[in-house]
Amino acid sequence: DTPDLVDRFGRVARDLRVSITEKCSLRCTYCMPAEGLPVIPQQRLLSASEIVRLVTIAVRDLGVREVRFTGGEPLMRRDLEDIIGGCARAVPGTPLSMTTNAVGLEHRAQGLVDAGLSRVNISLDTVDRDHFAELTRRDRLPAVLAGIRAAARAGLTPLKINAVLMPETLTGAVDLLQWCLDEGAHLRFIEEMPLDADQAWDRTTMVDAQHLLDVLGARFALTEAGREDPSAPAEEWLVDGGPATVGIIASVTRNFCEDCDRTRLTAEGTVRSCLFSDSEIDLRDAMRAGASDDDIAALWRGAMWTKWAGHGIDADGFAPPQRSMGAIGG
Ligand code: GTP
Ligand code: 5AD
Ligand code: SF4
Repeated sequence: DTPDLVDRFGRVARDLRVSITEKCSLRCTYCMPAEGLPVIPQQRLLSASEIVRLVTIAVRDLGVREVRFTGGEPLMRRDLEDIIGGCARAVPGTPLSMTTNAVGLEHRAQGLVDAGLSRVNISLDTVDRDHFAELTRRDRLPAVLAGIRAAARAGLTPLKINAVLMPETLTGAVDLLQWCLDEGAHLRFIEEMPLDADQAWDRTTMVDAQHLLDVLGARFALTEAGREDPSAPAEEWLVDGGPATVGIIASVTRNFCEDCDRTRLTAEGTVRSCLFSDSEIDLRDAMRAGASDDDIAALWRGAMWTKWAGHGIDADGFAPPQRSMGAIGG
């Protein structure tokens, strides 16, 4: 019996991603349906103290070394500061980060830093206001830019920007990269995965990493610089000789599943061993029925044993998961 979260392929999960809500202030076409996801009744969601308890077990007993809060949009929870503060007190020294769309971050960045947040990754696909409104179905670009600047002022650095590769992203890729270089933010482009609620993803029409490299390469000199560490999803490219880099997360055409070090909790307190899992193991009801920390740790270890070798997007008979990205947590 090993204490860590090991799967059948010998991978060890060190990176925990916790979705804390399925609500979002935007409706990105590659993630959410236009009407949003069905509202989860409050009592089905993990409370702040339940999240703190599970994070504590993961770090203290299961070898997790960093924790990222995702959604939906984490800022939709009014008790986000309590969640971060509780985790910071419970597992001091563990990096706590968040993936956010930055809407509303302008007014909360400093408070989140005070609570113990270390870093943020911000989703921004384009700096063209019309394209932004088309992709997110909301005209909120100014709020996002204000949020990004507030995050930088509050010291939430290094600040990473995530851009999902859609046709509009590709059109604006040069401008977006230039904007990030000017702001001192680290940009990463991400291949779209079949995790959109509308199931419109199409392997034959998706924008791939090579297409992006052709577009950026026409304007910037790009030199391959490898990955920050073996389990980092992004491959880095020096821009015009560096030191700035741009990252490409080629989840589809150059997947990194072999080196995956992730485990996930959904907002309802189930473990997902992989983005593309077909099963989840419940921890919430176990916890509410009086399970001990050891019981929960054992359930979590068992859940990792269901993890597949990889997402299998290119395999025959591939079917996308029931949950879309907004319901899994990016
Ligand atoms: P850092 O610690 O800053 O490197 O975070 P990260 O890159 O792990 O987190 P982030 O939430 O910013 O994820 C970036 C993108 O990578 C997401 O938007 C997803 O598209 C993709 N991604 C995240 N986790 C996984 C994963 O487990 N598998 C795959 N295939 N893609 C993932
Ligand atoms: N494919 C790849 N990345 C996605 N994200 C959301 N949906 C998808 C998808 N279908 C990303 C967001 C954000 C994180 C939460 O997940 O852009 O960076
Ligand atoms: Fe890990 Fe699954 Fe993501 Fe591959 S698709 S990197 S195995 S979580």
